[in-house]
Amino acid sequence: MIIDMRRRPVLVVNFGSQYVQLIARRVRELGVYSEIVHWKDILRTVEEKDPYCLIFSGGPASVYEEGAPLPDGRVYDLGIPILGICYGLQVIVHQLGGKVERAKKQEYGRAKLKVVSKDPLFEGIPAEFDVWMSHADRVSTLPEGFERIAVSENSPYAVVKRGKIYGVQFHPEVTHTAYGREILSNFLFRVCKAEKNWDMGNFVEEKVEEIRERVGRAKVVAAISGGVDSTVASLLVYRAVGDRLHCFFIDHGLLRLGEREEVERNLKKLGLPFKVVEAGDEFLRRLKGVEDPEEKRRIVGNTFVEVFEREAGKIKGAEFLLQGTLYPDVVESAGIAGSAKIKTHHNVGGLPERMKLKLLEPLRELFKDEVRKIGKILGVPEEILKRHPFPGPGLAVRIVGEVTRENLEILRRADRIFIEELKRSGLYDKVWQAFAVLLPIRTVGVMGDARTYEKVIALRAVESVDGMTADWFRFPHDFLDRVMRRIVSEVEGVNRVVYDISSKPPSTIEWE
Ligand code: XMP
Repeated sequence: MIIDMRRRPVLVVNFGSQYVQLIARRVRELGVYSEIVHWKDILRTVEEKDPYCLIFSGGPASVYEEGAPLPDGRVYDLGIPILGICYGLQVIVHQLGGKVERAKKQEYGRAKLKVVSKDPLFEGIPAEFDVWMSHADRVSTLPEGFERIAVSENSPYAVVKRGKIYGVQFHPEVTHTAYGREILSNFLFRVCKAEKNWDMGNFVEEKVEEIRERVGRAKVVAAISGGVDSTVASLLVYRAVGDRLHCFFIDHGLLRLGEREEVERNLKKLGLPFKVVEAGDEFLRRLKGVEDPEEKRRIVGNTFVEVFEREAGKIKGAEFLLQGTLYPDVVESAGIAGSAKIKTHHNVGGLPERMKLKLLEPLRELFKDEVRKIGKILGVPEEILKRHPFPGPGLAVRIVGEVTRENLEILRRADRIFIEELKRSGLYDKVWQAFAVLLPIRTVGVMGDARTYEKVIALRAVESVDGMTADWFRFPHDFLDRVMRRIVSEVEGVNRVVYDISSKPPSTIEWE
């Protein structure tokens, strides 16, 4: 039996808002499957997917400007409920004959919303509450047939509607909006009569069945890193096809202290069939004398592919390559505007064609927090679920300059102390990612009355939601002091520790 994995989705129409993915996640948290669609593709996608409704996202443009993104106007004749958020509201008003203009007083941040007309959208919610606004334009004239549901001090038409077409000037998807979740819930279930069709437990069962059907009697090969995504993806496939899954853990010699042993222990505990491939010498040999960050990334990436190909090539009958692609990667590669390449991200790209493999991507529809939920269902230990992200090229991009055995040793020991102290003080789960970086300079110090001339360790710790933007973590000074003392006294070759207080942008999280 082939299970039909198609679900009626809610389509989140992307007009370039930074909150697009957040809106889609909020809908899923309410139990309804959602997908993100480019504003140019609405009509085609509606026909294909029969969505419950459309949610127009915000966006940076002004509707009255030349070249502003505006969908095909036939979308309003389809009889599908629409919720326009911020720019999305302005799009609806503008296209249906109302007026949007630059506001004299712009609203950024908290504003008070007053509901002036009883409506299912606000059922069970007080008549006055705080919402989060972020707009320079506002609606000044309503199109025919529209009514006003709520106002704020600077937005006379903060919430409007005609039939099942709604527009809200504020952002219900952000947590700063009180009752944001309830408003979205009212829209989905009271206005659109959506049915709950998204549940992680069901997802696991359906996905396992789907993989089983697709793979048949063939074999699957996978590169496993010990992180959340590859572990969860492998477990799903293991459930479906058992020992016909072959995982490879490639030790590229650029791992943290004790990481390989830890990963081995975890994978064994989970019962996953895997083989450790020791390739550290090969990677280090190729990295010798190389200082350029992109060159280092390229070398690690290419070597990884070669090693994997060599090992996985020995598995006769392998037809599939497992990859832990997540939904944000899918959305990004079909993004609104072409974005500049900042860094070459390392993965096993290019392999499928070379090895003539078909791709298996069981996490393709999922956000990171959903992968964690599934991991929990599959019995993945907290330790893995809460692990900070670790870049594919490993410590190679955390040693500024040449990667040598000596540098790796110094960095590993300093990093271990930092992470140990984070865990000891209960801060590990509060930061999104933390690590040490070894700098290619030496500075003067004094230890036990003697002059030293040694290396510098930079500590990096950030808060972030998705790694796209980040801010440095505000540690208590005592904590930083403790880490500094331990590093300079326990790690030979280091006499100075600095803390990186750069945000992303303008910096990136990793130093290379
Ligand atoms: P940046 O340094 O670009 O990093 O701000 C954003 C996030 O991505 C991780 N990162 C990588 N992950 N392969 C990966 O799988 C890579 O090549 C890579 N480079 C950076 C980084 O650790 C951070 O979480």
